[in-house]
Amino acid sequence: MALLSVRDVTLRFGGIVALDEVSFTVAAGTITGLIGPNGAGKTTVFNVVTRLYRPDEGDVLFEGESLLRTPAHRIVRRGIARTFQNLNLFRTMSVLENVLVGAHARGRRVGAREALDTLDYVGLADVAARPASALPYGTQKRVEIARALVAKPRLLLLDEPAGGLNHEEVDELGVFVQRLRDELGLTVLLVEHHMGLVMRISEHVNVLSFGRKIADGTPEQVQADDAVIEAYLGADA
Ligand SMILES: Nc1ncnc2c1ncn2[C@@H]1O[C@H](COP(=O)(O)OP(=O)(O)OP(=O)(O)O)[C@@H](O)[C@H]1O
Ligand SMILES: [Mg+2]
Repeated sequence: MALLSVRDVTLRFGGIVALDEVSFTVAAGTITGLIGPNGAGKTTVFNVVTRLYRPDEGDVLFEGESLLRTPAHRIVRRGIARTFQNLNLFRTMSVLENVLVGAHARGRRVGAREALDTLDYVGLADVAARPASALPYGTQKRVEIARALVAKPRLLLLDEPAGGLNHEEVDELGVFVQRLRDELGLTVLLVEHHMGLVMRISEHVNVLSFGRKIADGTPEQVQADDAVIEAYLGADA
């Protein structure tokens, strides 16, 4: 069954059609990729799903129910958490405080015990008291994920989690995201430019270009798709 279903979503910003009748589903228990060149509309999809933006047309269903009547501050309680493309941490706060404040800001009170358990699970217990800004970039990205996880979501939206990571960190991230799915039963929608990572860990991949969905299928299918190859070559030209 589809946990998330984006249906014919159109969203315009003035003259720009950021999303143009976009439809795709995310099956429960999968890692699903959402890729596309810069400006394709990937982050905008996350902003629509988390209700920061209201689509001009179309609907978004979560567990079969429309999210359009759910305000943004209730999205976490519905079971959806996200990370942001750019680090969104409070630099002078400790890692633990970041997780606590992040959880609170997202509409759910979390105790220190719960936050520490989450940090322990993601391998950050020993840096819980350190200021977030003192940590290597890759570790800060993991704090972001911990902040989303403490809300105990069913659906986790990751916006370019591999951005700025080195090869080894990207490999670790891939294993980590698979662990979240396998151990916690999370469903993951992964926006990522790192094709090696997306193709390795996703069961299904959706491709956007200029606000339109141009392909979807298994990693093998989309990698062999002419429209996808064209979109990426065109973007590089
Ligand atoms: N709040 C906004 N106001 C105006 N235009 C916007 C806004 N948010 C996004 N856009 C436009 O919508 C389009 C899609 O942007 P979006 O950020 O979703 O792309 P993306 O696929 O996430 O790109 P990237 O890979 O660079 O992060 C772009 O043309 C962008 O300029
Ligand atoms: Mg983006």
